[in-house]
Amino acid sequence: MEVPFIDLKRQYAYLKDEISLAISSVMENADFVLGKGVSDFESSLAAACGVKHCVAVNTGTSALVIALRTMRIGPGDEVLLPAHTFIATAEAILSVGAIPVFVDIADGSYAIDLIDAEKKVTQKTKAIIPVHIYGQMVPMDGVMVFAKLHNLQVLEDACQAYGAFQNGKQPGAFGVAAAFSFYPGKNLGAYGEGGALITNDDRIAMEARALRNHGCYERYVHVMLGYNMRMDGIQGAILSVKLKYISHWNKLRNEHAAYYREQLSGVGDVTVETIANGNISNMHLFVIQTAQRDALQHFLIQKGVSTGIHYPVSLHLQKALEHLDYSVGDLPRTEAVCKRILSLPMFPEMTREEMDYTIACIKEFYVSY
Ligand SMILES: Cc1ncc(COP(=O)(O)O)c(C=O)c1O
Repeated sequence: MEVPFIDLKRQYAYLKDEISLAISSVMENADFVLGKGVSDFESSLAAACGVKHCVAVNTGTSALVIALRTMRIGPGDEVLLPAHTFIATAEAILSVGAIPVFVDIADGSYAIDLIDAEKKVTQKTKAIIPVHIYGQMVPMDGVMVFAKLHNLQVLEDACQAYGAFQNGKQPGAFGVAAAFSFYPGKNLGAYGEGGALITNDDRIAMEARALRNHGCYERYVHVMLGYNMRMDGIQGAILSVKLKYISHWNKLRNEHAAYYREQLSGVGDVTVETIANGNISNMHLFVIQTAQRDALQHFLIQKGVSTGIHYPVSLHLQKALEHLDYSVGDLPRTEAVCKRILSLPMFPEMTREEMDYTIACIKEFYVSY
């Protein structure tokens, strides 16, 4: 049996008619860039997240870059972020000329460690980016207290966390802004690239709209240097269709996760991600840990089960970031989990048969190992 890590074709088959209609309407109105498809999506997303503004852009990375620009983060400023994230979080900081300062993850969690963050605050520290990785929100009350104490702005990297909750609140309820990614493999995925910035701050929203469109409020009148980071009309229309189903899909993901947890309990040395009290994850990824990670992954490949590693090399040890001068041993908890984590197949349309087969293969591995 073959079990894919994710299967976007199944979801498309289910949505095909609705998606075709949505795309046709963009084509018929020649609304290719921004336009009604995008502005309708922005209104629906802002309402769903309980925030005042949504600014749709072309990628999650762009949402982070634009947010940092509106926060006036620039050359010489330091920004705290966990090293346990996708490189885009650090790229966004570097692309505005600021310096990423890597922080370890907290014990027993994948969230940024505020004790380590405290040691890294300097006169130059201007902001902190908690990353809601794998679909679970970072304990935000602690982050907000920390940020207030050190006079830092908070930008939530929610690129993996659309539909996550913490004590009834969603990403965007805490920081000055939050960034989403709609990369196809995300739980709310476009059929191409996509991203959005959400905020309750009128100035940030207004500037973000200008920055995504070459820095103009009025056509061909450029008041600042911006970017071409606009969302395509087709992506907006597709995302509006998918937004109607996302709560249901996130619920299915959570049901799959509950089944994995139940079935994998006590198997080998496998541990599963702890979901903190008050949190509802969107279960973008289902990540286990084991000392035999590489051997298990290899065994599963041979059995036809695809898995992923998010991420195998911590950011502070990436070649592309070596100029930041970190070394092995600087962030011990992050380095340790990079060797142990494995993401199992997870998508809403996954069948019980596929899960049972995956679980049986994992059990078989530990019997023979
Ligand atoms: C944590 C995190 N931040 C930022 C991004 C960047 O999003 P995008 O790929 O849409 O630019 C991603 C996407 O993979 C991500 O997972």
